[in-house]
Amino acid sequence: MRTIGTDQKRTLASLLLKVDRKTSAPLHAQIDQALRARILSGAVRPGTRLPSSRSLASELGVARTTVLQALEALQAEGYLVAAPRSGVRVAPELPVEGLTSPPARAAHAGSPPRLSAAARALAGLGTGAPRLGPAPRPFRPGLPALDLFPVALWSRLVGRAQSRASARLLEGGEPAGHPGLRRAIAEHVVAARGARCSPEQVFITAGTQQAFEEVLRLVVDPGDSVWLEDPGYLGAQRAVLGAAARGVPVPVDDEGLDVEAGIRRAPDARLVILAPSHQYPLGVTLSLARRMALLRWAAAERAMILEDDYDSEFRHRGRPLTALQGLDDAGRVLYVGTFSKTMFPGLRLGYVVVPPTLVDVFGVARASLPAPASALEQAALATFMDEGHFARHLRRMRGVYRERAEVLLDALHARCAGVLEPRPCDTGMQLCAMLPAGTSDLAVAERAARVGVEAAALSEYRLTRRGRGGLVFGFGAIRPPAIRTAVETLQGALEAA
Ligand SMILES: Cc1ncc(COP(=O)(O)O)c(C=O)c1O
Repeated sequence: MRTIGTDQKRTLASLLLKVDRKTSAPLHAQIDQALRARILSGAVRPGTRLPSSRSLASELGVARTTVLQALEALQAEGYLVAAPRSGVRVAPELPVEGLTSPPARAAHAGSPPRLSAAARALAGLGTGAPRLGPAPRPFRPGLPALDLFPVALWSRLVGRAQSRASARLLEGGEPAGHPGLRRAIAEHVVAARGARCSPEQVFITAGTQQAFEEVLRLVVDPGDSVWLEDPGYLGAQRAVLGAAARGVPVPVDDEGLDVEAGIRRAPDARLVILAPSHQYPLGVTLSLARRMALLRWAAAERAMILEDDYDSEFRHRGRPLTALQGLDDAGRVLYVGTFSKTMFPGLRLGYVVVPPTLVDVFGVARASLPAPASALEQAALATFMDEGHFARHLRRMRGVYRERAEVLLDALHARCAGVLEPRPCDTGMQLCAMLPAGTSDLAVAERAARVGVEAAALSEYRLTRRGRGGLVFGFGAIRPPAIRTAVETLQGALEAA
C-alpha cells in the first residue's frame, strides 16, 4: 500500500475536510462545497497538489468514487486541473487573489450591489402594509368572493385546454396573446364597457401590474412626469417608480381627478394613470366635464391616458358607465382590464387595449419578449368566455357584491355613526368611510387590526400626507353574517379608544 508523503499530509491537514452523515446533503456535494470554499478563501493556494483520491477517501471514511465525483465537478468548473503523473492540482491561474484579499473580502461580505435609481426609489416604499398577516381577515381590500368561483368548471376547462393543446400552444402561444381570448375580450369590453376596439388592439398581460409596466416602458422615458391620483392605487405608484419616471400627485375630489390641478402641476406630463369609473380607493366616478377636459388636454399635449378599469363590471345598480376609452377620438387612451376581480387574482391575466396607432409598436415589443402569461390558461379563459360562463359568473357576483355592500353600509351606519362616514358605494367590492377631521386613520387601523379587523388606512394610499383620514373596507370575500360580526368588533375597538 502506498503511504502518504509529508507534502500530501500537510495539504491534507490544510484541507481539514469533514463530512456530516446526519444531513441530507449528498457526501460528494459536501466534499465539493468544502473544498471549493477552502480554495476561494485562499486556505488552499493555486497550484497546490491535492492528496490522491484514495487517501482523501480513506481520511474522510467515504468511498473513493464519492471523492472522484466531487473532484470531477470541481475540475469541470475549472477549480482543479489534472495532469498526467502529477495528479490533481488547484488550478494555478485561478484568480483567487482578487476574491480573497482583505479589502475585496470586506467588499464582498458587507456591501450590497449598486442599485438603479428605480430600485432605490422602490426600496424607499417598503413592501407595503406590514400589519397584514398571511391569512386575510375582514376587510382586507382587493379580494373577490373566491369561495363562489366555479372551481370545478374552471379545472375542467383548464384540463380540456391542456389535453387539446396544439404544438403552438405548448410552445407558449402567440406573443400578443391567445387569438380566441383577444376576440372574446374585445367583444366583452365593447358590449359591457362601451369601449371601441377590435381584437388586434387587445394585448394579453399578466394582470394590471404588468400592463402598467409595459405601457410605461413603451410611452414614458426615465424622468418624464406621470400624473397619479392622490390618494390612489399603490400599484400605479410602484410601476411609475419602477420606470424611474416622476410621479406627480394630482388631488381627487368628488368629481374625480382634478384635471385643472394636474395641468397646473405638470402640463408636460407624458402619461396619466387613473381609474375613472371607480376611483381607488375613494370610489368616485370621474365627471363627464372632467373626462372631456382630460381628453382635450391629452390630445393637445400628445399625452397618453392609462385607464385602469379594474372592477367596473360590478356596478351594483343602474346602467354600467361607459369607459373613458369609448369617448376617445384622438387615440390617447390605453385601456387596462384585469381578471383578478372577475375571476381570481392568482390567475394573473389581464389585458391592455391600445389605440390603433400603437398596435404595431406593442406588437414589435411583444415579438422580442416571451408571452407574459400562461398560454393554456388563456385558452381555458377563452372557452370560459365563449361558452357564456364568464357572463353568468359576473351576473351572479354583481348580486352578491350588491348585497354585501348593502350589509356593510347598514352595519356601519347602525354601529359606527358619528365616527365613520361611509362614502356611497355603487360599484365593486370595496368602500371608503371617512373619519372625523384630525383623527389619525393609521392609529384607528392599528387598533382595528389588533382585534382582527383589517380595514386599510386611507392615508396609506396618499402620495402627499394631506387630507382627511378614513378606512378602506374590502367586502368582496366576506359573507354577510361575518360582515356584521366584524363591524360589531370594530365598533368595540372604536369605542374603547
Ligand atoms: C385600482 C386597482 N387596479 C388594479 C387592480 C388589480 O391588479 P392586478 O390585475 O395586477 O391583480 C387592483 C387590485 O386590487 C386595484 O385595486
